[in-house]
Amino acid sequence: MKAVIPAAGLGTRLLPATKAQPKEMLPVYDKPTIHYVVEEALKAGIDDIMIVTGRNKRSIEDYFDKSHELEYTLQKAGKDRDLKKVRKITDLADICYVRQKDLKGLGDAVLAAERHVGDEPFAVLLGDSIVKCNSCTGHLVDVFEKYQKSTIAIREVPNEQVNKYGIISGSEIDDDIYKISKLVEKPEIGQAPTNLAIAGRYVLTPDIFDKIKETEAGFNDEVQLTDAISKLDEVYGVNYHGKVFNIENRIGWLTSSIDFALDDDEFKDDLIEYMKTFMD
Ligand code: G1P
Repeated sequence: MKAVIPAAGLGTRLLPATKAQPKEMLPVYDKPTIHYVVEEALKAGIDDIMIVTGRNKRSIEDYFDKSHELEYTLQKAGKDRDLKKVRKITDLADICYVRQKDLKGLGDAVLAAERHVGDEPFAVLLGDSIVKCNSCTGHLVDVFEKYQKSTIAIREVPNEQVNKYGIISGSEIDDDIYKISKLVEKPEIGQAPTNLAIAGRYVLTPDIFDKIKETEAGFNDEVQLTDAISKLDEVYGVNYHGKVFNIENRIGWLTSSIDFALDDDEFKDDLIEYMKTFMD
């Protein structure tokens, strides 16, 4: 299976931090956001990855590319540990890139990968969200194998946040597995059918490409992936209980950095000590 990582959006919610760098390159603790996303695809056994980029996103390609100068300098300085870190990034996966020409929405960004994906089911991992711990995509792939229909990750969000997400409704046919009957992109608060939000991870059948082509601009005047998915005949949802960080907003970005820093024994205690100073 191949994976598509849409990473073309402007990141306006994080301006000015994203004025001259992609939001997907913002560091979360000690790595850029997109590094975590690629790692999740690899954990799911997917190493053929297409990243959908746009203008001003070249640093994503540079990040996963070999840096001869840097490697030479580190080698000469005897900084073997750093050299190893840098080389590991290049060896992570087989990544190729396509540019979304106009920013016409997530559906349109996924469509840009059509030729690379071909006629096979594929995974989509949004490049600006990090799903922590076990591989959410890996689990989606397992569920997809069972039903052979498009399968998306969902999670419960507070009722006052439903307008920030795609929201689904449907019936729970097995533990945490939903047969989806309705999908709506960013409904108004009070009008959402449930509080089950699309979590930015999908395994889609290739007929989604034709559905995207049939989809008119929707929310925010963009071609929404959610609207195209709702045109598919059968779709399943997997309720994911782990942590999901949306890097595209300030609180998501900040809390993700703290969360990952707390996993690092070298800095954990110092960070906790610092945070305690706010409790007094
Ligand atoms: C996108 C999707 C939305 C989904 C969300 C998850 O929205 O369109 O359905 O719930 O990602 O993060 P965005 O956050 O890019 O506006």
